[in-house]
Amino acid sequence: MTGSIGVAVIGAGAIGRTHIDTLARMEGQYLATIIDPAPPGAALARSLGVPCLPDVATLIDAGIADAAIVATPNETHLPISEALLQAGIPVLLEKPVAESLASALRLIEIAEEGGRPLLVGHHRRHNPIIRKAHEAIRAGRIGNLVMATVTCSLAKPPSYFEAAWRRTPGAGGPLLINLVHEIDLLRHFFGEVATVQAIASNGRRGFAVEDTAAVALTFANGGLATLCISDAATGPWAWDLTAGENPVRFPAHPVTAHHYAGSRAGLSLPDLTLWEPEGEPDWTRRLQPTILEVEAADPYEEQLRHFGNLIREGGTPLVSARDATANLIVLDAIRAAAESGCAVAVDLSPLDLKD
Ligand SMILES: NC(=O)c1ccc[n+]([C@@H]2O[C@H](COP(=O)([O-])OP(=O)(O)OC[C@H]3O[C@@H](n4cnc5c(N)ncnc54)[C@H](O)[C@@H]3O)[C@@H](O)[C@H]2O)c1
Repeated sequence: MTGSIGVAVIGAGAIGRTHIDTLARMEGQYLATIIDPAPPGAALARSLGVPCLPDVATLIDAGIADAAIVATPNETHLPISEALLQAGIPVLLEKPVAESLASALRLIEIAEEGGRPLLVGHHRRHNPIIRKAHEAIRAGRIGNLVMATVTCSLAKPPSYFEAAWRRTPGAGGPLLINLVHEIDLLRHFFGEVATVQAIASNGRRGFAVEDTAAVALTFANGGLATLCISDAATGPWAWDLTAGENPVRFPAHPVTAHHYAGSRAGLSLPDLTLWEPEGEPDWTRRLQPTILEVEAADPYEEQLRHFGNLIREGGTPLVSARDATANLIVLDAIRAAAESGCAVAVDLSPLDLKD
């Protein structure tokens, strides 16, 4: 298509507003309408001078959008995206791809048969820091990736939990809401996960969903990783609180949250520091830090630019429904491991059935 792309934002909540702010900075894309049944959505649309429509069926009938961003609660991802894609409207769908494996598999089918782009919003993959780290790892700069530790302390205020879905099993909880980003990055760097072990607790908040979890992963390439996550623990050691991706919502702290250790060198993120030995690795010798240079860019803008390119020129989404479903399968294995107390093998065969 030529001309500016009119984008409908469906769900004007926390992340929907980030997309609306991002659209205001984009060339070649503009906010066409907001779809949200709640009064704050209508008020925001009025203040921005765009129409507010009550639902996706009305949007499709109105024919006023070339593309849509779906930023609604997880259990609505499938029905909303299905309606849009079947109407020929390209979709940028927020993560996680769906609330269940069955819904995610249905989305793969629709996306792969339909011919209209479906990009899943694992926005960190569009961050130049992640691109650079991926490039360094692929180029062998840290040798074979041996292990990683990832921390994610996100002290969320009580107001965050006023939205009931954030406390509801199958929809909320930091595993599905936040850890899915970390799983996506670990798979991006290491390749597929082989087995998981996990401990989860709801002891701090007492909700039906977990508030804290510790997870251990093995990868098909032999690497190991641990992740600690909590939405009730205070500390700056989290991607969201260090990477500066969304400074309006989260101040960035000058510490690291991800540590990758390879057979040759180490890499910390988001500061992109490569820790290398002089000569052969030897734990008694000082490691030399080098900061890998990168030109900063807003990952939400980069993600929308990629979405625009998919709409105009076609191509493969950087994060497809199939790729994002693998993240969901790993998460399901983590939840099963936490419930059973046993190691769980990650079974990606449901994805083969859809080849
Ligand atoms: N990429 C990220 O970093 C990121 C960050 C936060 C949330 N998310 C994801 O985005 C989605 C939304 O999360 P949030 O925190 O913004 O939620 P939220 O509760 O703040 O906002 C959801 C909005 O959707 C609206 N809504 C509900 N049902 C709707 C429907 N059928 N049609 C239109 N609007 C509807 C609600 O009124 C609300 O305004 C979730 O899937 C979440 O996992 C992604």
